[in-house]
Amino acid sequence: MRSCILGLFLLSPLLINVTAVSIVKRQIEGAPLRISQNDAEVCKDKSPREYFRLSSDKDCREVMRCSSQGLQVLRCPSGLFFDIESQTCNWRSEVNNCDQVEKRKLATPLFATNEPICSGNQLACGNGDCMERELFCNGIPDCSDESDENACTEHDPNRAPPCDQSQCILPDCFCSPDGTQIPGKLEPNNIPQMVTITFDDAVNINNLDVYHDIFKEGRNNANGCSIKATFFVSHKYTNYSAVQELHRKGHEIATHSITHRNNEKYWTNADIDTWAKEIAGNRLILERFANITDNSIVGVRSPYLRVGGNNQFAMMEEQAFLYDSSINAPLSNPPLWPYTLYFEMPHKCHGNGQHCPTRSHAVWEVVMNELDRRDDPNFDEELSGCVMVDTCSNIITRDQFYDFLNNNLRRHYNTNRAPLGLYFHAGFLKLNSKFLEALITWIDESLEKNDIYFVTMTQVLQWMQNPTELSSIREFAQWKEKCDIKGQAYCSIPNACPTTTRELPGETNRLHTCMECPHNYPWLEDPTGDFFAFKK
Ligand SMILES: *[C@@H]1O[C@H](CO)[C@@H](O)[C@H](O)[C@H]1NC(C)=O
Ligand SMILES: *[C@@H]1O[C@H](CO)[C@@H](O)[C@H](O)[C@H]1NC(C)=O
Ligand SMILES: [Zn+2]
Repeated sequence: MRSCILGLFLLSPLLINVTAVSIVKRQIEGAPLRISQNDAEVCKDKSPREYFRLSSDKDCREVMRCSSQGLQVLRCPSGLFFDIESQTCNWRSEVNNCDQVEKRKLATPLFATNEPICSGNQLACGNGDCMERELFCNGIPDCSDESDENACTEHDPNRAPPCDQSQCILPDCFCSPDGTQIPGKLEPNNIPQMVTITFDDAVNINNLDVYHDIFKEGRNNANGCSIKATFFVSHKYTNYSAVQELHRKGHEIATHSITHRNNEKYWTNADIDTWAKEIAGNRLILERFANITDNSIVGVRSPYLRVGGNNQFAMMEEQAFLYDSSINAPLSNPPLWPYTLYFEMPHKCHGNGQHCPTRSHAVWEVVMNELDRRDDPNFDEELSGCVMVDTCSNIITRDQFYDFLNNNLRRHYNTNRAPLGLYFHAGFLKLNSKFLEALITWIDESLEKNDIYFVTMTQVLQWMQNPTELSSIREFAQWKEKCDIKGQAYCSIPNACPTTTRELPGETNRLHTCMECPHNYPWLEDPTGDFFAFKK
């Protein structure tokens, strides 16, 4: 677990989960805590999940909660403070509530009263006022106590209805009550096992060699087409001529934001306009500077997998994105298939303080199933799942990594054959060449089976929209596009455009592209970089 915590920590210091920090259990008696009241007094009205401070002048690293065994103390690692509002450890400079002893109690609406308080199409605010149902959870406080916006992840009164398979029909709608059913009611033994490899963040000289090693010429699926991956590209430091080449070879390019801002609340609480600037703006940059003209950028992954609730998905509908792949599902056997969000999600909103969509949206969710991090699930103790392969870092040796891949493949292959997602940051494979070797060996062995296909996320959805059995899968047309592309890259010497933008004062960034240089470095307010008003 240690190295796992560290791994998470390095990747995204703001996302430290309190449950991942070692918790020191200390009983009141004999413990070096000066507490005048007894546990019962302190714990009156406290949820066992909520951390609080005993007093505001104590060390800001230390908090406690009321467990069934008494008070439990949690200390943040040195350098960090505990943020009482987000209930996580965070950088000292980011925590501004050390003087606050407990999380603010927000007023919540009165939905669960014996007698309804309001009539007709109205519901009760926390203070008993009546308000139109539509105004609850619409992102704007309408009740005078603002309670209409305070219980929206669990109790949105305007939430999407549960899956109704008589109304949810392929190719545009797919759901199942627990999320595990196979589209088209096909038998698992008759369908291909799809595997989706994805890479997040900037594409550049630091990771191109990893992609070259994995997607080497001749490494083909059983239909004769090269194996494909999906790249969730963020803007800064990306080499767009390299993206253009990945796209030419038939890999899927998807959008992962312009700024990749390192602040979870920014993404959790972003409004529709911010989501559009970040995600659709990044699509525009990719299209322009990697010359992607076939409208194939249809996928979204949010930075740090922070789900942006209904605002993110409303933006995706408005901007005609096909799917998101940011929502995590807890480790389960059998695993989940992707689903559409016309109806309610088939699983709990998983993760610390996540903000899942509750409304109905015309968007697919290529749900991220957690992986089983144990290299021997029959003998090892229970461990929590992990979603990005780089965070499953109890794995140390090459053999452990190879076994981990096979164990997770087995959980999919021997049950409902839900697509197996292997989600990477390239740095993980670059730093651990033995894992890269094990991955490549495992891919080559899987390909020998002839019913395992390494495809893009869009190709998964194309298969789900048109479920095709193994007997005719080699002719499945959408998997033959850009089948096995050879030849030269579009340009041999890309432009290296030194550009600046008013939005990033004092920075010059080189934009590598086969296309013409822009006037400015593309950024949120000026994604094409030719907004002349910005010229300095
Ligand atoms: C950008 O990517 C291309 C591959 O398409 C490569 O030839 C070029 O050297 C890269 N440029 C830099 C500066 O890394
Ligand atoms: C961009 O791609 C399109 C279609 O593939 C092609 O016709 C066009 O010439 C390319 N543009 C440039 C500037 O290379
Ligand atoms: Zn990222």
